Formats: sequence, structure tokens, C-alpha cells
Amino acid sequence: MHSIYQYQEFISDYLNSQYEIKEPRNLYEPIHYILGLGGKRMRPVLTLMSAEVFDADYKKALPAALAVEVFHNFSLVHDDIMDAAPLRRGNETVHEKWDTNTAILSGDAMLILAYQYFEKYNTDVFRDLAKLFSKTAIEVCEGQQWDVDFETRDDVSIPEYLKMIEYKTAVLVAAAMKMGAIVAETSPENAALIYDFGLNLGLAFQLQDDYLDAFGDPKTFGKQVGGDIIENKKTYLYLKAVEFASADEKIQLLHLFSIQPNDNSEKINSVKELFNKTGASKATQQAIQDYTLKAFDTLQKISIDNEKKDMLHSFGENLMGRKV
Ligand code: IPE
Ligand code: IPE
Ligand code: MG
Ligand code: MG
Ligand code: MG
Repeated sequence: MHSIYQYQEFISDYLNSQYEIKEPRNLYEPIHYILGLGGKRMRPVLTLMSAEVFDADYKKALPAALAVEVFHNFSLVHDDIMDAAPLRRGNETVHEKWDTNTAILSGDAMLILAYQYFEKYNTDVFRDLAKLFSKTAIEVCEGQQWDVDFETRDDVSIPEYLKMIEYKTAVLVAAAMKMGAIVAETSPENAALIYDFGLNLGLAFQLQDDYLDAFGDPKTFGKQVGGDIIENKKTYLYLKAVEFASADEKIQLLHLFSIQPNDNSEKINSVKELFNKTGASKATQQAIQDYTLKAFDTLQKISIDNEKKDMLHSFGENLMGRKV
């Protein structure tokens, strides 16, 4: 096994060896731009880790890992259009730096490029990877549509929210790990367990993303703090705040989520105050911990050495404490 830092380096090196500047520039430059901004590269790291956990050389998993990362970046470029987001990884979003049409087409091209990485595998592994990927990609689209539909609804339930984040985020984290298992050609039982581990980790990850969107430090977060509040996103924070609110607070919250002021700073501050006052912030922190612990339960069932379990365990622990 290697360290997280080493896995990130392997991914950067492989990425740099793949990309050349091609024409038309307005198609390829945004792709280089967004991939070059990096990010945590959590999903491809998990693919490489998973391959090694199941006794394959990480090198064998590099194309699958990059497929997941390129797909993730495609989804971010389109997500930023949908969420009207100005900032990504501390820099201008693609649709702001270029324009919306450029972001749509560069995103589309990234989705295709992601699939092309599977061509590096033989028939059986290729089929299993492509099948999992297609299923996952359509689920991400379903999750993203729910996310947008929920913006204009005021009756979203916690189970609906959980389904939405499972689809838009957790299935890709789960698939990233299962791809490592597929490349390593481990048992179907192990592949299913590592998927389940990734799914619960992914749920915790999105809950944390929602939390940081409101309470992250603008200096380091890399995205617009309060973006979800501006867009009236029905996050766990919001849903729990409505649940715990007094009659008076509930009226305030519903009102704040129905207005579109020119200056959003007052709306953001008032909503954050309500998130804290109602106990929604604490409940979100608790849920992040609960899903992480659920992931750790699954980890115990996988037939691998304790040393490997410890690595996956500390990855999950670190994720819980993340600030970006
Ligand atoms: C952001 O993902 C989108 C979500 C699913 C929450 P990351 O937080 O992994 O973004 P990067 O790739 O590190 O920038
Ligand atoms: C993003 O969810 C999920 C996908 C990109 C599929 P968010 O909209 O919360 O992600 P961020 O916060 O913009 O990174
Ligand atoms: Mg977004
Ligand atoms: Mg979004
Ligand atoms: Mg978010």
C-alpha cells in the first residue's frame, strides 16, 4: 500500500502523460483548466487504494481511477452551471471564465473521455467496469435532477433528501471503490462490501459538503460560502432546522427560503444563525459521524488484513475532519 499523497502523485503523473493541447482550443482548454485545478482527487485515490487492498498493483487501476476523476470533473462543470456557482477550487468556474455553451460542450467531451479509459482493459473487466459506470452515471443524473427539483419545493422529507445525495454523490464514491475491486478481480462478495463501504462514506461526505457550504472558511473552502442558501437548496441542515424550529423560527426560515434578495449576505447570516439556534448544525455533525461509523461496520466484514482495514479506516476518519 502507499500513502494518500503518493496515490495523488500517481494520478497527477498519469493525467499529465495523457493530455496534449489539441484543436479546437475552446473545447480542450476548459478541460485542462478544470482538471489542472486538481481538487482532493478523493475518488481516484479510493480506486487505487481499493485495487491494492485486493492485492492488485495500483498501476493496473490507473485508467479506471482517471475515468472516475474525469467523470467527476464533468459533473462539476455542469453542476456549477446548474447551481450558478462562481467559484470552484478557489478559481473561476468554467462557465464564468468562458461561457455556458463552452462549459456544456467541454463537459460533454469529458464524459466521453472518461469512458474511453475503459478501452485499456480486456473484455471481461471492460464489460464489468462499463456496466457499473453507466449505471452510476445515470443515477448521478437522477440525483442532480432531484437536487434541482427540491429547490422549489417546501415539502422535501429527510428520506427524499438521503436518496438524492445517495444518487448525486455517494454512488460515485462507491463505484470508484468497486472499480478497484473489479480491476483486482476479487470475489463478488468483497466487491459488494467495498461498494457498501464507499456508499456510506459518500453519504457522510455529502453531508459534510452541505455543512461546509454554510460554515466553511471562505479563505480556504474554494467555493462560494453560502451558495446552497442562496440557491434555496434543501440540505440536511435546512430540513433539520425546519424540523426543530419553533413556530416562529419556522416562519422565518420558510420566508428566507422564498426570497431572492440582491444582496445575499443578510439572508446567509440569518439562515446560518437559525441552523445553529435550532440544533440543525449539531444534528448534521452527528449524521456525518453516524454514516462514517456505518461505513466502518462494513469494513469489518471484508476479508482483508487488519493493516489494510486500518488504512481505509484512517481515510474515513480524515474525511470526517476535513475543512475543504
Ligand atoms: C465536490 O466534490 C462535489 C461533491 C460531490 C460534494 P469534491 O469535494 O470531491 O471536489 P474536489 O474534486 O475535491 O474539488
Ligand atoms: C454536487 O453536489 C454533486 C455533483 C456534482 C454530481 P453539490 O452541488 O453540493 O457540489 P458542490 O458543492 O458544488 O461541489
Ligand atoms: Mg454545486
Ligand atoms: Mg449541485
Ligand atoms: Mg455542495
